[in-house]
Amino acid sequence: MQSQSITPVITIDGPTASGKGTIAHKVAETLGWTVLDSGALYRLTALASCQQGVDAADETGLASLAAQLDIRFHAGLVWLDGQDVTEAIRQEAIGNLASQIAALLPVRQALLERQRAFRTAPGLVADGRDMGTVVFPDACLKIFLVADAQARAERRCKQLKDKGFPANLTLLLEDLLARDERDRQRTNAPLLAATDSHTVDSSNLTIDETVKVVLDLWSNLGFRAR
Ligand code: DC
Repeated sequence: MQSQSITPVITIDGPTASGKGTIAHKVAETLGWTVLDSGALYRLTALASCQQGVDAADETGLASLAAQLDIRFHAGLVWLDGQDVTEAIRQEAIGNLASQIAALLPVRQALLERQRAFRTAPGLVADGRDMGTVVFPDACLKIFLVADAQARAERRCKQLKDKGFPANLTLLLEDLLARDERDRQRTNAPLLAATDSHTVDSSNLTIDETVKVVLDLWSNLGFRAR
């Protein structure tokens, strides 16, 4: 049995729309843990840069924006400067801008400690691209969640339509492949499976089946779900 002296972390990394967020929330809910949606921090920086007119190439300006973001996550909602931006940060344009600015080292550095501050007892489930490789390299369990691109584009299309946003499957698939490529090819903290991670392919699994795979891996380490 592993020592629990440090708050345990489960990381779930993977490409765009692989279901990381949904799985992370369900695993956290089962365990009674906190959840960190690290992509939301990049999306919030992207949204703030649009609102405040900071150029996407202005590394210093963006890093200072990221460091000072006034954000709050509560009950599934996300606030920026006291405004509910839960839906606004989910727009495709904001996701694409987030992917662009996430390639900038000063922005990643500005967000590093903010992400680590989410590590509070009894535990944290963190989802993103570099949770297992950079932010929480000492995590007890690291998952690399993948799904084929067509399945991911279809999920994203459904999510957007359910929320009343316009969505075109062909364009979404193109966007998603371009975003994956940028996230994988960047020099700073690229999208990459940690060497000690478990790759889980959710293409043919339901949400509940995927959650069970993660919880079983967790239980096999000697810990129990509540
Ligand atoms: O997970 P997401 O789609 O909400 O993330 C939006 C973008 O933010 C993603 O394309 C890349 C970036 N990101 C990152 O670089 N590192 C993370 N840990 C999380 C997200």
